[in-house]
Amino acid sequence: MIHKFDKIKKVSGNLSLAGDKSISHRALIISALAKGKSYLKNLSISEDVRATLNCLQQIGIEIIFNKNQTIVNGNGFKGFKKPSLNLNTGNSGTTARLLSGVLAAQNFESTVTGDFSLSKRPMNRIIEPLKLMGAQISSLHKDKLPLQINPTEKLKAITYQLPIASAQVKSAVLLAGLYIEETTQVIELTPTRNHTENLLNLNVRISENKIISCVSSKNYPEAKEYFIPGDISSAIYFIVLTLLTKNSELIIENVSLNKTRTAALDLLMKMGAKINIEFSDELNREEYGNIYVESSELKNIKIENEIIPLIIDEIPILAVASLLADGEFKISNASELRVKESDRIKSLCQNFIELGLNVAEYDDGFSVSGEAKNRKPNFKCFDDHRIAMAFSILSCLLKKGGSVEGIESIAISNPDFLRHLKENSS
Ligand code: S3P
Repeated sequence: MIHKFDKIKKVSGNLSLAGDKSISHRALIISALAKGKSYLKNLSISEDVRATLNCLQQIGIEIIFNKNQTIVNGNGFKGFKKPSLNLNTGNSGTTARLLSGVLAAQNFESTVTGDFSLSKRPMNRIIEPLKLMGAQISSLHKDKLPLQINPTEKLKAITYQLPIASAQVKSAVLLAGLYIEETTQVIELTPTRNHTENLLNLNVRISENKIISCVSSKNYPEAKEYFIPGDISSAIYFIVLTLLTKNSELIIENVSLNKTRTAALDLLMKMGAKINIEFSDELNREEYGNIYVESSELKNIKIENEIIPLIIDEIPILAVASLLADGEFKISNASELRVKESDRIKSLCQNFIELGLNVAEYDDGFSVSGEAKNRKPNFKCFDDHRIAMAFSILSCLLKKGGSVEGIESIAISNPDFLRHLKENSS
């Protein structure tokens, strides 16, 4: 589906977003592990989280929806049942990787599949550590999905240093570690999002610049209440739109302010963005609050290598913001972008070329310079929600607007994206 956007003149109002996608996946999985009813407020309504929910139902978890909350009725330790069909994780890497960590510890066989895009993404990164733990997990197709998981007598604790910065890999190991009496340690050289550690209340320490997260069966969760703050990775599109539209102000309410998720805000502030953050509260170690944004003049700055894993999902919209900021945009050390929902380096470069910009593509990044020559760009989404939203925002910022082909992929993370845009702009 093609969606045409006109230039937006003003952004205003208050915005409340559905729950953060990363926290929602984990709250569902952890509630499913626990015995009894957990109450989840403001769960994400994204297709990705729907995939986690469907898979959990397939392994015997009762999930009840009522107006204000989702109730997950977990069956406790080893309480899952063998699925009668393959577990289809759709487009969701988080579902496939986190759930595999849990399935690796069960006494039944399961097969994890995904859609065309997810079936091209690397799975060796979880197969390797889970095998080191003694899991019977293998790929049925060249280190990619489908994954075949067979029952294991007993998993063993490991100390695992992540070879790539990935919260999904870290979480797969930590979830499997819940089934082992001895302590499993995951070591990170660069920080990644820490929601699994928070929601499981794990012991995390820093030693010689390494982050060490520890887990054992003592951390096996109990049923509890969750409030899932608004999705900061969905908020960022509206933040950039507000910053770059004249006479605009926006308040984003009750959004996640977890420090492993706000690096893109810090970067925008260093670029000159007028953003104020007000912390309100925290639950299960997850902080949230309001963000106040005003129109600003931005200038491009150097993006340091260490923050790349913390802004990995925001790079498409940050690259868009950079086009309307002073100076040249360059990103490197970001080869992980090539194995996301699309090859995001390629997707971004192709859309920037469509706009008539000068683009240099590298293995691990790209740079963009020059003036937009094409006044009627037709951007492509490459079946990637973050590319779809980033170029929708760019279209709203261009003098003569622009169109976005494949807009439907926004539903992967924010099915309300177009409504939010309509309600907060004129
Ligand atoms: C996620 C982790 C990140 C991120 C993804 C969500 C998570 O992936 O890109 O959108 O919820 O753990 P990696 O861990 O593969 O970097």
